[in-house]
Amino acid sequence: MAIYHVFGILVQFGIVAVFAKPQVPCYFIFGDSLVDSGNNNELVTKAKANYLPYGIDFPQGATGRFTNGRTMADIIDKGGLGIGSLYSLKHTLIQKWRWRFLTNLHALWARLITAIHGRNSDSTTFFSHIKTNGVWPRIVGSINSMHEKNHIPLSSMKRQVNNGSYTKFWYDSWAGSTPLKSLFPRLFHLAVNKDCLVRDYWNNGWCLNWIRNISSGPNVSHLHTLQNILSTITLNDSEDVWTWSVGGSTFTVKSARYRIDQGFLPDHGHVTRWNNLIPKKINIFIWRALRDRLPSRWNLSRKGIEMNSLNCPICD
Ligand SMILES: *[C@@H]1O[C@H](CO)[C@@H](O)[C@H](O)[C@H]1NC(C)=O
Ligand SMILES: *[C@@H]1O[C@H](CO)[C@@H](O)[C@H](O)[C@H]1NC(C)=O
Ligand SMILES: *[C@@H]1O[C@H](CO)[C@@H](O)[C@H](O)[C@H]1NC(C)=O
Ligand SMILES: *[C@@H]1O[C@H](CO)[C@@H](O)[C@H](O)[C@H]1NC(C)=O
Ligand SMILES: *[C@@H]1O[C@H](CO)[C@@H](O)[C@H](O)[C@H]1NC(C)=O
Repeated sequence: MAIYHVFGILVQFGIVAVFAKPQVPCYFIFGDSLVDSGNNNELVTKAKANYLPYGIDFPQGATGRFTNGRTMADIIDKGGLGIGSLYSLKHTLIQKWRWRFLTNLHALWARLITAIHGRNSDSTTFFSHIKTNGVWPRIVGSINSMHEKNHIPLSSMKRQVNNGSYTKFWYDSWAGSTPLKSLFPRLFHLAVNKDCLVRDYWNNGWCLNWIRNISSGPNVSHLHTLQNILSTITLNDSEDVWTWSVGGSTFTVKSARYRIDQGFLPDHGHVTRWNNLIPKKINIFIWRALRDRLPSRWNLSRKGIEMNSLNCPICD
């Protein structure tokens, strides 16, 4: 049955599968509940879907939609049109925004955001303190959720220090993925100027300034560790830049979408090969069995359908 649906949609919406690079960045499908599954939470009806396993693959969980989270359109898409899902498009555009925010910190709009929400120095979250509703928390939430799901970790956008004039020594993540402030809290307390730039500590070699000489105790070993990290880094005359580590050195929408789709959409490793010699019905049965999608009594009962017995009818 599922096969006929897929085929039905292909025909109905005039999608033609081509095995070549996509010519368009996205596509629009207009259709019924097969491609746009709504919910009936507001309707007075007994047919509700606001509990698991509905929405099991949906980022928000069960929302009242009669689907696991994906619609046929997502599944066809993964099957060869070469165009990513809408889910990845949405999150990628937010990542693009983040990239522009980081690389244009001196632009007025970025300065405004920094003035309102503070400086983002912790590399494990992107403005984690924002909790209220609205557009900004949703942007922040998307970026943090991509990080938590390991689709686009925050460390994919990394500061590369060249002349050190635009990077804060203690607050920014530039040597490794954690700010030195969190890595060496004791040394941070002893630093003379906590707000200084990387450049301020460089004079054809690293010279750090402390309010008190560090000569004994655990602080000494911390200092040695810090010096070891710094000894691998030298500054030169070019400007500090941001780098993107997911395919290519600068951010591209394509690489980010590909990365999210890889993590989010299921991978059907092999192409279905139909055997023309046996009846279609059996082909489809095998196809469902291979994907573990047979409506056995046990599985039907798990979905809340009343069954007289869960035993195998032959054993009864
Ligand atoms: C080590 O650093 C801390 C501050 O982070 C300071 O309170 C402590 O006195 C220092 N210890 C020594 C032995 O200098
Ligand atoms: C730190 O030690 C050096 C000698 O090693 C000395 O010249 C300097 O005055 C000391 N600084 C402080 C703040 O004690
Ligand atoms: C400065 O160093 C970085 C690597 O640390 C390098 O990518 C960049 O090209 C260098 N710039 C110049 C002008 O040498
Ligand atoms: C670092 O590079 C930027 C851009 O090229 C330049 O404006 C700045 O003056 C440089 N800083 C130093 C200390 O050379
Ligand atoms: C059906 O149940 C089996 C376990 O008995 C499970 O492995 C399988 O994933 C279930 N299939 C569906 C479609 O729920």
